[in-house]
Amino acid sequence: MSHSADSHIRDLRPSRAARLRVLWRKWDRALHLSETVFAFGLVGFVALMVQSRLSPRNLLLGSGSSSLWVVAVLAVALLSLIVFVKRQQPKLAPRTKDAFVGTLVLLTSIAAFKLMLIFQMDILAGYFIGVPSAFFLFLTPVAAPAMVLRLLMKPAHVIFFSVLHALCMAFLLEKAYLFGAHVLVSSMVGAMFIAQATTRSTLHLAGFKTAIVSGVMGLLVALAWGGSFPILSVMDPRLALQEYSVIETGIWCLVGAMMGGWLSSVVALTLTPLMETLLDYTTDLKLLELARMDHPLLRELVLKAPGTYHHSIIVGSLCEAAAEAIGGNALLARVASYYHDIGKIGRAEYFVENQSHMKNPHDGMKPHLSAKIIISHVKEGKVLARDYKLGEAITDFIMQHHGRSMVSYFFNKAQQEAAQPGSGSSADGVSEEDFRYPGPNPKTRETAIMALADSCEAATRSLVDPTPARIEAMVHKIVNKGLNEGLLDEADITLREIRLASKAFTRILLGLHHHRVEYPDQERGLPKHTNVTPITKTNKGS
Ligand SMILES: [Fe+2]
Ligand SMILES: [Fe+2]
Repeated sequence: MSHSADSHIRDLRPSRAARLRVLWRKWDRALHLSETVFAFGLVGFVALMVQSRLSPRNLLLGSGSSSLWVVAVLAVALLSLIVFVKRQQPKLAPRTKDAFVGTLVLLTSIAAFKLMLIFQMDILAGYFIGVPSAFFLFLTPVAAPAMVLRLLMKPAHVIFFSVLHALCMAFLLEKAYLFGAHVLVSSMVGAMFIAQATTRSTLHLAGFKTAIVSGVMGLLVALAWGGSFPILSVMDPRLALQEYSVIETGIWCLVGAMMGGWLSSVVALTLTPLMETLLDYTTDLKLLELARMDHPLLRELVLKAPGTYHHSIIVGSLCEAAAEAIGGNALLARVASYYHDIGKIGRAEYFVENQSHMKNPHDGMKPHLSAKIIISHVKEGKVLARDYKLGEAITDFIMQHHGRSMVSYFFNKAQQEAAQPGSGSSADGVSEEDFRYPGPNPKTRETAIMALADSCEAATRSLVDPTPARIEAMVHKIVNKGLNEGLLDEADITLREIRLASKAFTRILLGLHHHRVEYPDQERGLPKHTNVTPITKTNKGS
């Protein structure tokens, strides 16, 4: 082999760094190591740093060194848990963004708690001589991180972060580890109550409920401590509590923990809108605001594209029922449906649902141009979603509701035109790609449901005689078409869930069209339809 050929092969060989990168990516894919190591490394490091009074020297050589090994044991145990979850229950594993945000929230909370232990409690206890120091400990809004995280992510992830949070808090307090149980209980109930909050004002109610449970827990912990305060090692020894009886301390802790529980909801109420905006999260509270019919985009949709508005509301009902049937996020599915076709606002008259009493503008147009206009509503919708700050979650629905499907009506028209003699081209020369939506295909259960609901609504609307049998047959046909064409291939949805969603669609559509269904006594004198094959008008892509 010549010298130049040899050097050419050497050039093609991946460099050492590239090989390492590939190896790392392999590991990373298997274990999601980067996020796991990042999360635990950072939490463990900061917890240790604050425990050793922010000094690396103390950490390695001083009293903190034994804690280092405690954290190591804890980290290995939790890492095993993470690897187990990632491998056995990958659906439960948090997204990288959620892992980062959860870690950040925990770090902030732990650092603030430690700083408060070092400075604030001494100062407060010095000011309020008649009040036991334990009161100030329980006053801290320990449920706030879990409440904020519950508004941003799935309950399973909140449990994970809350356990970690409680362990770190217990660890910071050394002998007062029971406080960790108080943190865990307050976090769990806080997260549970806040998840039931339907408006921002009911967040306060969630705070009051959390306050009651936190208060009881504070009392129990104080009673378990038996009147002594086991965290004096980090505080001024002059603040010893011997002069307070168990009952007195218990009552103060009860009041402190109740106030802390309520404060948690105040902190969550303040931080959540900030995090929604900064980190592009779509919380249930934001969804409820978007669901209001006075949102400027929905008002414009009613005025400029009333047919699309009506279609979107029905798709919302279909998606909500189907998502409830499969245990999905029904609120997200319903609200996203309202906005899925907002891209039609600019050219409403080109879409079949808005053409009831007017000439079809597609008549006389080239099929390529017609398809381009129809397809453009997806990208137009994305632009409007960005301008009106609808958030990533709603934008995903807009982009994925047609997946990579084709505008087959205009594709067939283009093929027919091309096949005509004298056109100068052939039907095979028509590119499928020109008639495909940009996609991507639906990725989640909710977006998959919407893709099906969208087609079902459009098709059922165009049924000449929507009898129950025809509606059922139509839903069945659309679901099968979606499965056969690979529309649902990338979605995290099972066949059982698709069947449940189809049943929900049929139930809602039957309810909506019941007034149009002809009953035997109304059919007298009319020709009988025995054919259950759906009869449709031309569907030009809703
Ligand atoms: Fe659409
Ligand atoms: Fe639609």
